[in-house]
Amino acid sequence: MSQDAEPHAVAGRVFSRAPGRTLSVAVRAEGTTIWDTDGRAYLDAAGGAVVVNVGHGRRSVAEAVGRQLGEIAYAHGTTFTSEALEAYAAEVGPLLPLEGPAAVYPVSGGSEAIETALKLARAYHIARGEPDRWTVIARWGSYHGNTLGALDLSGRRPLRRPYEAWLGRFRHVSAAYPYRADEPGANALADPAALALELERTILSAGPESVAAFVAEPIVGATLGAVAPDDGYWHAIADVCRRHGVLLIADEVMTGFGRTGTWFGMDHWGVKPDMVVAAKGATSGYWPFGFVAASARVHRTVVEGSGFVHGFTYSHSIGGATVAREVLRIIREEDLVAASASKGQLLRATLQDRLGAHRHVGDVRGRGLMVAVELVADRESKAAFPRERKLTEAIVAAARDAGVLVYSGTGCADGTNGDMVLLGPPFVVTEAELDRIAAGLHAAIDAAIAKVAPEG
Ligand SMILES: Cc1ncc(COP(=O)(O)O)c(C=O)c1O
Repeated sequence: MSQDAEPHAVAGRVFSRAPGRTLSVAVRAEGTTIWDTDGRAYLDAAGGAVVVNVGHGRRSVAEAVGRQLGEIAYAHGTTFTSEALEAYAAEVGPLLPLEGPAAVYPVSGGSEAIETALKLARAYHIARGEPDRWTVIARWGSYHGNTLGALDLSGRRPLRRPYEAWLGRFRHVSAAYPYRADEPGANALADPAALALELERTILSAGPESVAAFVAEPIVGATLGAVAPDDGYWHAIADVCRRHGVLLIADEVMTGFGRTGTWFGMDHWGVKPDMVVAAKGATSGYWPFGFVAASARVHRTVVEGSGFVHGFTYSHSIGGATVAREVLRIIREEDLVAASASKGQLLRATLQDRLGAHRHVGDVRGRGLMVAVELVADRESKAAFPRERKLTEAIVAAARDAGVLVYSGTGCADGTNGDMVLLGPPFVVTEAELDRIAAGLHAAIDAAIAKVAPEG
């Protein structure tokens, strides 16, 4: 292909995340809106990948990090700490669902934070004189990142498939997925007692003395679509973990920082894990950032024990901590966690009104401003459309053409089939914009079904 014929005029040599598609060129963003070079406006109904909690275009974030980088941008984490880092850790710690004082290990994103949590679990058990605790248990219908350790944890088959030969070190138990509980192929249950029993049996069959940690999203994000477990689940799971000396690691990468209407997902049930993993909303997309936070007990055990063999060039970033601190200030001062709770309720009610009786909408669900719509071929049987129809992709494209950006998930029914659209707008979204999101999604669903399943 000649240079002229290449589709990406501006970003021609970028190894695109959407090869083969001509991407718009983003130039500016404010609040809930992104503009491209053609002047088109997009309503960012998913905050990118459910990231932009405080909204786009916050001058104060740019100013804070600009000031900081003008003073000092980098100092290695083994030689220096910084005021920005210390202040951030002190401010965020008390907000975390951990027995404190928590200790915060900052990294560059969610996957790195998950890898760090896995290694920290090992370090903890080694320090306690239990070096045989290697096994980590996660759940089907989950996502924890794309680096190899995090991918191995993730119970998301389409992402695992090309790399399967490199995976297989971790075990998986059923998802807590009430809508598809007990369906063949779904690897899902609803009953908290049954789910806790399954986890306990998995620990016992592995040998309790070999199990290091259980990792799960408090409310499942992009894999199943804003799925909360039935009440009682998290207490039952925490109890099983404690009885067997297994660390409970909450992956709050998507649910953290107000996304589900509470500061952290675990706050819905008042359960305190041993570690919290966060990223995304922590810096709202203004800086690549994430962290694992450990309870005081885990932190003390590791630092007083054999230490922690780990670290990255860009961990403990001064710029990252500065951005995270300013984002935290905005969330607090503008009461954005409460905004997420109330606006989320409104969004779900609006979607229910519009789509609750739609013949191809199986479920509208979520907490706070993490909301999903699951599509089905048949409401009665909950049968999914076959994957070849690519319904989710058609909905996302139709919505984008109409200027509304939504996030997608496929495979929620059985790991391959199953169509779901996830919404996660910035917390500054207005009521009028929530209406536009619901109307835009409704129209996109109808247009996509007319295209890929015209028989209806
Ligand atoms: C729950 C969860 N954990 C981990 C990750 C990985 O984060 P990152 O993409 O920043 O590596 C994600 C990203 O979507 C996520 O949603």
